[in-house]
Amino acid sequence: MFEMLKRDGLARIGRFETRSGAVETPALLPVVNPKICTVSPRELRDEFGFEALITNSYIIKNSPDLRRDAVERGLHEMLDFRGAIMTDSGTFQSHMYGEVEVTNEEMVEFQKSIGTDIGTVLDIFAEPSWTREQTAESIEVTLERTAKACSMKGEMMINGVVQGSVYQDLREDCARRMAAMDADVHPIGGIVPLMEQYRYSDLVDVVISSKKGLDPSRPVHLFGAGHPMLFALAALMGCDLFDSASYAKFARDDRLMFTDGTYRLQDMQSLDCPCPACRGMALEGLRRLGGRERTALIARHNLYQIKSEMALVKRHIREGRLWELAEARCRSHPALLDALRRLGGHSAFMERFEPVSRDGAMFYTGPETYGRPVFRRYAERLASRYAPPADGAAVFRDAGSKPYGRAFAAEFDRARRAGLTPVTASPFGPVPAELDEMYPIAQSVFPSIADLETERRMGAEFGERVSSMFARAVPGGDVPEGGAEEADPDLLRAKAVARYQFGMDEAEALFRGEIELVVSRKTGKIRNVVSDGEHVLSMRAGDGLYTLRMEGARRIASAAPAPRMRVAVSDDAAPFVSEGKNVFCRFVTGCDESLVPMDEAIVVDGSDRPIATGRLLMVAGEIRSFKKGMAVRVRSGSGEED
Ligand code: GUN
Ligand code: ZN
Repeated sequence: MFEMLKRDGLARIGRFETRSGAVETPALLPVVNPKICTVSPRELRDEFGFEALITNSYIIKNSPDLRRDAVERGLHEMLDFRGAIMTDSGTFQSHMYGEVEVTNEEMVEFQKSIGTDIGTVLDIFAEPSWTREQTAESIEVTLERTAKACSMKGEMMINGVVQGSVYQDLREDCARRMAAMDADVHPIGGIVPLMEQYRYSDLVDVVISSKKGLDPSRPVHLFGAGHPMLFALAALMGCDLFDSASYAKFARDDRLMFTDGTYRLQDMQSLDCPCPACRGMALEGLRRLGGRERTALIARHNLYQIKSEMALVKRHIREGRLWELAEARCRSHPALLDALRRLGGHSAFMERFEPVSRDGAMFYTGPETYGRPVFRRYAERLASRYAPPADGAAVFRDAGSKPYGRAFAAEFDRARRAGLTPVTASPFGPVPAELDEMYPIAQSVFPSIADLETERRMGAEFGERVSSMFARAVPGGDVPEGGAEEADPDLLRAKAVARYQFGMDEAEALFRGEIELVVSRKTGKIRNVVSDGEHVLSMRAGDGLYTLRMEGARRIASAAPAPRMRVAVSDDAAPFVSEGKNVFCRFVTGCDESLVPMDEAIVVDGSDRPIATGRLLMVAGEIRSFKKGMAVRVRSGSGEED
């Protein structure tokens, strides 16, 4: 059973159990060729810390000695590996060498008989060159074989491989039908030729379309992907497992893996690698080593690169900064940059998993950053959830200092006295003064020298968007002194952020009757919103967004019909949740589909009565499929009234 421990968008740190122990993801499974042990399985575990490996049951079955040994002693004894072992089925051999003379049933039975933890169906490797018809037919066979394998699996976990070549609708359909079967892990297959041909942008389409159909509660394996330069991007798209034969294959032809690509020993000008395998070794020394020794050293170097990049990916997931790492990695090869650009085309899908905010600021790394879902979300919410307080705008330009209201304090005041809304041209688009302290506007860092795309956004595009929002716009520097009475900027901000975060009707319900704002004496920032004597919202200093109080939750629940902002729990869990206990997936009976990770959620009981508020950790589809894990981190329950 897979559990998500930490997430950043679609990327996740997770954990699943096998008969031979737990595997934490994202993880790379080194490929062990039972005939050539470049690095022994024992060393893979003890020295490198790999919890799982993959080997090939087809090779074992076809080699009489290995076969006898595996059947007699079991795979774990034979390889001397105490962790989880995944086996492949011969499909890759059919891709490389043509037909294989075994059946699906034989392979599944054999994998069971040698004690494999995760066995693989004999799927059909759909080549990128295949026609749609050929691909569609082969998928039917793969699905039939997967159904058969699932019915035979016993204690063994099953890899249900998603095929579909480069046809996105076929991929998604295959994934959806795989998800309906009793498989345990889903490799995305048929992608090796795409990687060999550097067709990484096609790989992005393949992964995203597969993810759309798959069940979020099962680990996804990118079959045959083992280059560290790909990990960040693939993890960002929700891939959990990888496997690498390359660490050993490349080593045999003197190629060294780094996070920015593969380098041939003969072309390198210096080694300068601090990994434990290379430490103290100069390029000349490495070249002079005997063949065997050199291969052994390079294979270990490759494994250390893999390990350290995986650790870096995990750290970035924990810190909510995986986009930054993926963007950096994708700049090491134009084909990877294409992949990153292609991913920008999937931002509508990515946005559903994008957290409402994160700790710390987001960094711009280049024009591809505009493909991140935060930009799309801001533009959409500004269009649908912003109500200008007046019909005129005074226009300013982001000069790097944030929040804008601090940078242009006197100018903003003057604009307001003239009855105008200060609006700043930012890389996100127009930022009305009311929204300039919240995530991601104030919590983002851009270079002070703008590139052409940023200029376009802050120039021509900004002009168009401001004129669609306001009847007139004047340059901020041209606003005359004096004028009307100043509207209360804090109240405007308090309402605008509520609309942006919760929606128009929801904000209406929160700001009812007499409003009192509690403002920090030290920072001048809004702390609490009190409406008709009741504390409904608190504003977080870090991201300028709200946490919802019980009374606020009740207001929204009576104004906006279910399931809006709700997470419904079963009546047996309700008493615990109302006492402040967290909500776990298995107790959830319904969830608003439009909520995104880290959104404020209203927990309700079976009769739609609000019983707690908290932050949502998973989206509705995830909550439905995960059996384990926390869905809402509860802040306060109605039983412990605030
Ligand atoms: N190894 C690399 N790609 C594949 C694939 O598509 N199917 C299987 N079974 N193994 C693979
Ligand atoms: Zn090294």
